[in-house]
Amino acid sequence: MSATITVFDDAHGVAVGAADRIETYVRSHGGRTVTIGMAGGSTPAATYAELLERDIDWSRVYAWIGDERFVPPEHDDHNGSMVQRTLIDHTHATLFPVEWRDDASPRELAADYERALLEMLDADDEGPIVDILLAGIGPDGHTLSLFPGTDALEVLDRWYVANEVPQKNTWRLTATYALVSRAREVFVLVTGGGEKATALAHIMNGTLQPALPARRLMDHNDNVTWLVDRASAAELEIT
Ligand code: 6PG
Repeated sequence: MSATITVFDDAHGVAVGAADRIETYVRSHGGRTVTIGMAGGSTPAATYAELLERDIDWSRVYAWIGDERFVPPEHDDHNGSMVQRTLIDHTHATLFPVEWRDDASPRELAADYERALLEMLDADDEGPIVDILLAGIGPDGHTLSLFPGTDALEVLDRWYVANEVPQKNTWRLTATYALVSRAREVFVLVTGGGEKATALAHIMNGTLQPALPARRLMDHNDNVTWLVDRASAAELEIT
């Protein structure tokens, strides 16, 4: 397990740091499409706003959704609509959202999206290839929609699945650790401190069994970079 953690003064610093890394990656892979799995929730909005200030050839960027809530696009909680509103509408990037169908089950939507991703992403003999995956963490140590104690944590023979999340009394759609393993870069954005500072300390120190879902990102990918603000790093023993 290996990872890089960088501590920034505040949430704006994390947004600048994340945008720097994304801009550098897109520039250094000129002449081809770059695929980015977008994070949901509230944290990444500052990064998406910062990206709008950068000189990026967005026509080469294909964005997809690392995890989605089981709600229609018009719902306030819909991650794809948040990404569309905060970034895609202001650039020439292409978004591949989860296509909602009123009559579809979570499993059907996840299977549809997995097929769409497999059509869109490059691949090699090992499976689809992701350039960048963005993610956050919750106070419970979840990441994407991989929540503690849920079935999707153990699914490694699928790339994208429906996941029942009893603690939220809902279903989610999420990339699996199998798809996480196919990312060339995973950038985890953590800001705000509080319970996330405690979760981050457990994630970095491995002090909880079973391991928190966000810690397990590092079991499946050797290129995980944690971009955290000082408040969220407050409980880390950084030497
Ligand atoms: C989601 C996210 C989820 C998120 C964390 C942090 O769909 O909710 O993908 O994993 O990254 O819950 O959320 P905040 O950024 O809102 O704290």
